[in-house]
Amino acid sequence: MTELLRIDGIRKTFPGVVALDEVSFDIRTGEIHTLLGENGAGKSTLMNVLTGLYHPDRGQITISGCPVRFTSPRDSLAQGIGMVHQHFMLVPGHSVFENILLALDHVPNLIPRQQMRQKIQAMIDQFDLGLDLDSQVWRLSIGAQQWIELIKLLMRDCRLLILDEPTAVLTPQESDRLFEVLKQLKHQGKSIVFISHKMREVMEISDRVTILKKGRSVDTLERGQYDQTLLAQLMIGNDKVPDWEKTGSTGNDLVLEVRDLIVKTDRGRPALNGMDLELREGEILGIAGVAGNGQKALAEALTGLKEATGGQILARGNDITNSTAKSSYIAGIAHIPEDRKTIGIAPDMPVDENLIMKSFKNRAFRKGIFQNRKAIRDNAQQKIAQFAIKAGPQGAPIANLSGGNIQKVIIARELSEHPQVLVALYPTRGLDIGSAEYVHKVMAEGATKGMSTLLISEDLDELLKLSDRIAVMFRGRLVGYADPATVSREEIGLMMSGEVPS
Ligand SMILES: Nc1ncnc2c1ncn2[C@@H]1O[C@H](COP(=O)(O)OP(=O)(O)O)[C@@H](O)[C@H]1O
Ligand SMILES: [Mg+2]
Repeated sequence: MTELLRIDGIRKTFPGVVALDEVSFDIRTGEIHTLLGENGAGKSTLMNVLTGLYHPDRGQITISGCPVRFTSPRDSLAQGIGMVHQHFMLVPGHSVFENILLALDHVPNLIPRQQMRQKIQAMIDQFDLGLDLDSQVWRLSIGAQQWIELIKLLMRDCRLLILDEPTAVLTPQESDRLFEVLKQLKHQGKSIVFISHKMREVMEISDRVTILKKGRSVDTLERGQYDQTLLAQLMIGNDKVPDWEKTGSTGNDLVLEVRDLIVKTDRGRPALNGMDLELREGEILGIAGVAGNGQKALAEALTGLKEATGGQILARGNDITNSTAKSSYIAGIAHIPEDRKTIGIAPDMPVDENLIMKSFKNRAFRKGIFQNRKAIRDNAQQKIAQFAIKAGPQGAPIANLSGGNIQKVIIARELSEHPQVLVALYPTRGLDIGSAEYVHKVMAEGATKGMSTLLISEDLDELLKLSDRIAVMFRGRLVGYADPATVSREEIGLMMSGEVPS
């Protein structure tokens, strides 16, 4: 196969961060080339360099042997390089057709609208995408919106398509469909850069894999030269991954019940629309669903951040929905929020203080009316060691820590009071593998001690690995429960698109 594009010695720094240190590899015509790396390895940055959004500090990109310099994504598009970003760039109030036209706006084209429409329709039919050109974009599923982004690039005749973690937002079925289309495109001679950190997908779809670690390209391997173990090794290197085992068994007592719960979004739309749920003692209850189907509202209602406008929340049989008992229930609940930077921490305060925010009334940290500095420091030292937190210099604001370490601080704090219930909303999103395993370990050990956990996640592998049961949510309601020991990914996928199992 012939080489299409070569990346040579690319370095890219941001103030205080070396995002890319030394990256070199090539992309061939008609291959699916996976870029594999942990969160923060530099994958998105590299693709932003490749598409001209960022300028590298050093290094070179060559196409068919000729050096190129992109100063904007327009330049790279002109060379046939296009990217589907992690966050789509669509106008929600416009139709599918209008959105595609908009993307073609500044491409010199003399093709009349009607012909354009036919061409797009032919593409939809060819790949069996089932898109209606006249639908308004906001009505479409995330999966359908991703098709639009892909069509935009194909209409511009891109020969290199970059997809940055495209499956993160898809159901298993939608991912499978995407893979079929990508393989079809490959056979038509397109080159595809597929970005992921999900090993199973990487094994399925790649012709070659380039592993990126801490801003460096570690190696490029052909299918057949690698297996899952080798890839994982190359991806995380010598970083320690803690091991854990889940031994506890679920009790029969209902710790928490949600009945027909209604919660509205800030804009008054229903986020929970008659939600039911039962959480048992010592249980890890996984909540599966495509993000945006009410998961956040559920977590917020259960942790007292949002009021219910209908239905009931029962804690060990007592209705606490709107009662004064609610605050004492909430005091006994731990919460790992989705947005760590704004509601999980006090960013300007040091780690030591952030670790006791939940225990500020606790006598252990006071001497009369004053804070007990030594006790606070001792507590921090103990937690930092226990959770392997890389805390930086003492007294520095917590905001300086990496995402994984901030998450560990939150977890160390939330679990220090031995809560009965933990509500964890996407707790490992954006974490490196070591930190993610730490979170898993903490939940598994908590369950052994009788803590009940609501684990809300979009990572099916994580849910299948940890959960005693999996509840699937769709459009603000419970679709049903699945047993992780017996359910197939396909069955859960169907439930995620609203299909009630028979
Ligand atoms: N615009 C930016 N400003 C400062 N730092 C950035 C910026 N974009 C990325 N980074 C940093 O560069 C590193 C690599 O990030 P990224 O390319 O997003 O990784 P990945 O896509 O592999 O998860 C991270 O440490 C990230 O915080
Ligand atoms: Mg990224």
